[in-house]
Amino acid sequence: MTVELRALNENDAEAFFEGLKLFSDMEPEWYSFAYRPGMSFTELLRIQDDEFHGRNLKPERVPHSMLYAFVDGKIVGRSSIRHKLNDHLMKLGGNIGYAVATPWRNKGIATEILKLSLKYCRDVLKLDRVLVTCDEDNLGSVKTILKNGGVLENKILNEGKQTHTNRYWIKL
Ligand SMILES: CC(C)(COP(=O)(O)OP(=O)(O)OC[C@H]1O[C@@H](n2cnc3c(N)ncnc32)[C@H](O)[C@@H]1OP(=O)(O)O)[C@@H](O)C(=O)NCCC(=O)NCCS
Repeated sequence: MTVELRALNENDAEAFFEGLKLFSDMEPEWYSFAYRPGMSFTELLRIQDDEFHGRNLKPERVPHSMLYAFVDGKIVGRSSIRHKLNDHLMKLGGNIGYAVATPWRNKGIATEILKLSLKYCRDVLKLDRVLVTCDEDNLGSVKTILKNGGVLENKILNEGKQTHTNRYWIKL
């Protein structure tokens, strides 16, 4: 199976709205931070372009690339790549967040999405290391990070909970 990870373009409207249905069992942010019901695809592309260039950012947001994972022309996952770290991202959010649609899990897609995201961070964003975080009990994500060279720096207690967030660095 070949996974292609890339930004959306004007030819992807149909794939985007099909993907939206595929992710409907998850919180909307797992598919798109920018999309709101009723929004046109053109408007979504405009927001994503602004976010990439760091224009009109909301407070506490940094420049950001939203890349989608395509298999045979269908969107099956996504990667949210923060170009730099602010205090919150340094503590908990990290540079990269990814998700895979439920019917497509356990096929190695997240592992491939993170691998391709790392290549993007190195080749396009010119970063030399990235922070990737996940809840300690999110075993699929822990394994995805370890398989991509993650080195655990520490664990941070989640506010108001007994659980921790694991913080891993990956050298590029
Ligand atoms: C976490 C998530 C991205 C994993 O996606 P995926 O495509 O199923 O992951 P992969 O198929 O690449 O699996 C990677 C490894 O984790 C294992 N794995 C996957 N899901 C698992 C689970 N629920 N429990 C234990 N292990 C799991 C796989 O077996 C594989 O290990 P292996 O190579 O030793 O067999 C997916 O479950 C998801 O989108 N979850 C909701 C969003 C989320 O939590 N994102 C991560 C935020 S940090």
